[in-house]
Amino acid sequence: MHKDLLTVEDVSAEDLQIMLELAARMKRDRLDWHDQPLKGKSIGMIFSKSSTRTRVSFEVGIHELGGNALFLDRNDLQIGRGETIQDTARVLSRYMHGAVIRTHSHSDVVEFAKFAHFPVVNALTDKFHPCQILADLFTIKEFSGKLSGVKVAYLGDCASNMGNSLILAAKLAGLHLAMASPEEYRPDKDIIEHGVLESGSVSWSPDPKEAAKDADYLYTDVWVSMGHEAEKEQRLKLLAPYQLNESLVACAAPGAMIMHCLPAHRGEEITDAVMDSDNSIVLDQAENRLHVQKAIMTMLHNDDWDRLLSKE
Ligand code: CP
Repeated sequence: MHKDLLTVEDVSAEDLQIMLELAARMKRDRLDWHDQPLKGKSIGMIFSKSSTRTRVSFEVGIHELGGNALFLDRNDLQIGRGETIQDTARVLSRYMHGAVIRTHSHSDVVEFAKFAHFPVVNALTDKFHPCQILADLFTIKEFSGKLSGVKVAYLGDCASNMGNSLILAAKLAGLHLAMASPEEYRPDKDIIEHGVLESGSVSWSPDPKEAAKDADYLYTDVWVSMGHEAEKEQRLKLLAPYQLNESLVACAAPGAMIMHCLPAHRGEEITDAVMDSDNSIVLDQAENRLHVQKAIMTMLHNDDWDRLLSKE
């Protein structure tokens, strides 16, 4: 595995296979898991943005792996008063064994990782949210038994960290990703064209019904992400036709599953009826953050996860 997890591109197809298998073992044996791959290690959690799922699942996961999570609000660090990212990364490398960072600019986490002497995990930037999407791959595999060839329709703001990450995940796992958004929120062309698409596909349409047609999974996310509050009025207006509601569900494959990385703004990007339907797997997605991030931390901080996989 790469030193850091900054984007899905840091994960190879082989890494993904191991990660999903390890996460499945950790989920199955959670109450009876005695290995502590983070024993004696302190992991800094540097957050510049709010979080429920990411913060709590990482703190609990690091604890369950025997490590110590230090939550560091960016404003409590000198970095909030002008100390450089480079100096902060070098100093923290003298104390800690890893960092999990949620921040605005993706280039900040890249720079931190460049100067840090330990593994760095991207816990969301404006450009990518790899931990969410890797957990989503785990969830899809859990429900479909496979990833390759599964059709996922993503509706709403496709020019977002989730849109970007889903494109990379589709390429990695061979998903058929059908995206739908207004012209203003089209997916990033460079990310679609970057790298090799060996299997699966990525398509875009302005028509949500076309994207949703025969989809196995319907996925949406908030329309006004952190940092976009000034565009709220425009976003609500332009994205309204992309609401995940019962008429869109009717276009999908029978029994299509409903996904949302949460937090949801009910009544905006998703209706209560769809969010609370029997086919909604949003809470499974949230839970699986814990298991997959434990697998990620184990792989980044150890070389002997083969041993964990060989145990029954
Ligand atoms: N999905 C997600 O990252 O949730 P939080 O913002 O609550 O961490």
